[in-house]
Order: sequence, then C-alpha cells, then structure tokens
Amino acid sequence: MTLEAAKQLDSVFGSRELESINAELPLRLIVKNGQRYVLVFNRSLTKSILLSKCFSAFDYYKPGTEKLRNSGIPCEELSKFWEHTPLFLEGLEHKKTKLYFHKRLEALNVFLLDKQSTVDRFIAKRKRMLRTPLDFSRAVTRILFAFLIVELTGIGHRKILRALDMRCNVFFGYFHAPRHKSIAALFEWLFHENSGNDESCSQDRLLAQSFLVMGADPIMASICGAIVSGSKSFSESVYRIPPVSFVTRICTSHFSCDGWDFYKGDLVNLSLLPNWDELINEDDKNLSNSISFALGTHKCIGENISLTILNMAQIIFENNYPEGFPEESRISPDGTFLAFGN
Ligand code: HEM
Repeated sequence: MTLEAAKQLDSVFGSRELESINAELPLRLIVKNGQRYVLVFNRSLTKSILLSKCFSAFDYYKPGTEKLRNSGIPCEELSKFWEHTPLFLEGLEHKKTKLYFHKRLEALNVFLLDKQSTVDRFIAKRKRMLRTPLDFSRAVTRILFAFLIVELTGIGHRKILRALDMRCNVFFGYFHAPRHKSIAALFEWLFHENSGNDESCSQDRLLAQSFLVMGADPIMASICGAIVSGSKSFSESVYRIPPVSFVTRICTSHFSCDGWDFYKGDLVNLSLLPNWDELINEDDKNLSNSISFALGTHKCIGENISLTILNMAQIIFENNYPEGFPEESRISPDGTFLAFGN
C-alpha cells in the first residue's frame, strides 16, 4: 500500500465515530507506479463488491512476512497462520477450513454457555479494580477466550492468559512490522512445542490462533462500544457499531457499479461503516443493513460465538455494575479496529 493511501485510510478511520465515518467522497483513487489503490467509503458500494465474483481475498502480509523471515526473525508459526487462515484463502481449501471451523465453533458455543456463572464470580471478585468499560471488556474477553483456547489447544490456562495479555492488533492498511514481530514471537513461544501433527489438531490450533489474532479486538470493542453508547442489547449493538472499520480485496476482473469502474489488479479497501450522509437516510439506520461481520464468501465465521459472548457480557455487566462505572473510556481507533482508551 502506498504511503498516500495508508494516510488517507488513517485520516478517515482514525477519526471515525461509533456508528459512521465522515469521508468527503464515496471513493478515492490513488495511482502509484501503475498500481491503482481504491478506497471505498460508501456502504452500498462495499456490499456490491463483497458479493461480486470479480474480487478476491489475498495475503496482503506476504511480502512483509517474507521480509521478517529473510532477516532471520523466527516467524514459522505466524507464516503458517497467514498461509492457512480462511481470511486469505479461496476455493476448496477455504471451504474445507470454514466447514471445520463452523462445526468446532458450534460445539464451543455450547461449552461456553456453561462458563457464565464462573465468569460472573470472577468479575464480581475483581469489581473494584475494573473501573472503566474498557477494563471490564478486557477482563471478560480475556477469561472467556482463555477457556476457548485451552479447550482447543490443551495448553495450560496460565500460559494462555499470559498470551492474551501479550497479544496486539496487527490489522492496519500497511504491514506494521513491530506488531507482526511481537505476534510472531508470541506464536513461537505458545505453539512451537505444541505443534500437533494430525489434521484436526492443526485446524484446532488455527482456530485458536484466529481467536487471538482476529477475534479479541472486535469483541472487546463491541462490549465497550455497547456500554459507552448505553445500549440495551449488546448483541444488537454490534450491528449498529461495526468494530471492524474496513476490509481489503483485489479485483480479479473488470467490475462496474453505479458508474464506478474497477479493473483487474486494483487493490481495494472497503469501509464497513456507513458514511455519515448515508445514516441520515432512515432506511440506512436499519440493523439489517449492517455489514459488521462482512458479506459473501469471507463473511465472519465467528458471528454466532461473538453474539453468545456479547449476551454473556451483558448479563455479567448488569449483575455487577447496575450503577455503571466510576470512570469513562473513550473511542481511540487502532488500525482496522474500533478501540477504546481509558
Ligand atoms: C464482534 C466480533 C467480530 C466481528 C465484528 C468480526 C468481523 C469480521 C469481518 C468483518 C470479517 C471479514 C474480513 C474480510 O473480509 O477481510 C471477519 C472474518 C473472519 N473472522 Fe471475524 N469478527 C468477529 C469475531 C470473530 C471471532 C471471535 C473469531 C474467532 C474464530 C473470528 C474469526 C474470523 C475468521 C476466521 C474470519 C475469516 C473468514 C473468511 O475469510 O472466510 N471473528 N470477521
């Protein structure tokens, strides 16, 4: 991604509101050395592109990961993750992995519901230390994710909790080398000795890594966003407040929509948030218009378990904080994700 395109993404999503963005134009085109970068800031156009066969996912981290490897940084586990995550796959392998994840996540959903009272007690004991919506969101996500990842990997609870504390967000419009290095080190420490050889074991590890890399940030943002916005339903709130700001695709054949043309090779960043003027339209406030979990082939596989976690978080919040929190958290976007600070 060119510096110019990354700066424009940063300026629009770095000042995003909870529910919308304010971009002057629905689309920006940046051309550098013959490469076209298109930034789409219009939800209707995003939807058409996500549902079109003229675009596909691709591993936008490949050159960066190869550079890490070539400079001798141990990143075998992270490279394997980017190579096999459904996020960057297409075709049969994508379908197979998603089917496996789907079955596994259904069972984990049931497993998680059993943890409600344990998590409730855990939070009740630490109530005084958790002074803001962000403290609470982090604590609930941490303990629920620890249960899920221990169940998937068989690695000890303490080690997983430590890993959750060490993890960071790597999703930006560009390759954020220090953050990738830090996740690479975390994956080597956590998984290198626990590399399972049979297929289901390695798929479970891939799912556990998905929780760490792409599950934790949007869940924390959703819990926090629901509390900050005073939502009565956390699971509805995730559709009104998209925690993932944009997704990336490559155009594989010419596509035309609403007078806009996309050509083979175009790199496209698509906003999942409505532009503020779209929200003025009453129809666009409708939750069914939301694309918080994206659309089409790469729609999020974690949607159902995320809704379960959000419902659990809401009950725990209502049980323990009937008066709300003594201190506030404020919006502080971080790359692709909505994030909060204290
Ligand atoms: C509120 C919570 C979540 C939101 C809003 C969310 C959102 C998204 C979005 C927008 C995408 C599409 C990315 C793209 O097209 O480039 C996606 C994909 C994905 N998400 Fe989530 N996610 C959430 C939670 C989770 C969780 C808990 C997991 C854990 C398993 C997860 C795993 C995945 C995976 C594996 C993909 C790739 C699917 C594919 O490419 O076919 N997500 N998510």
